[in-house]
Amino acid sequence: MTRKLKPTAKVSDELKKMLNDAIAIEIAASVQYMWQYVQVIGTKGVAVAGKFKETAIAEMKQAEELAERLWYLNGVPTTQLAPIKAGENLKEFLEFDTKMEEEGIRLYKKIIDQAQKEGDVTTAFLIKEILEVEEEHHDLFTTMLEEV
Ligand SMILES: [Fe+2]
Ligand SMILES: [Fe+2]
Repeated sequence: MTRKLKPTAKVSDELKKMLNDAIAIEIAASVQYMWQYVQVIGTKGVAVAGKFKETAIAEMKQAEELAERLWYLNGVPTTQLAPIKAGENLKEFLEFDTKMEEEGIRLYKKIIDQAQKEGDVTTAFLIKEILEVEEEHHDLFTTMLEEV
């Protein structure tokens, strides 16, 4: 495999594995939220459907950013997805989505620690930005859950 880029940062396999775990979560979240958007029913569901779609697209963009960073670090982005749980009604959708975000938030905090330990400031910075968005998603889903 040829590489166009020569990374200035050298990171551990552990950190690369963590980035791939994050990619697996992002792609899973993207599919989960998009299928919820497609399957959403009822007046309350229709009112919030756009939020699922919007968030699904945001997750896919994060997967792309992570994959680009991992590729730069001489890693290969995974094609495996983390487990998907779409749920059968709006309340379940939002409960599963809140859990998905919590899983991401936990992992991102660990990645920031690891990246900082390894002196990979750029990865730490990228993940901090993603973490901020995940906290917004978490806030969105928990707020929506209160309304269901
Ligand atoms: Fe995400
Ligand atoms: Fe998210």
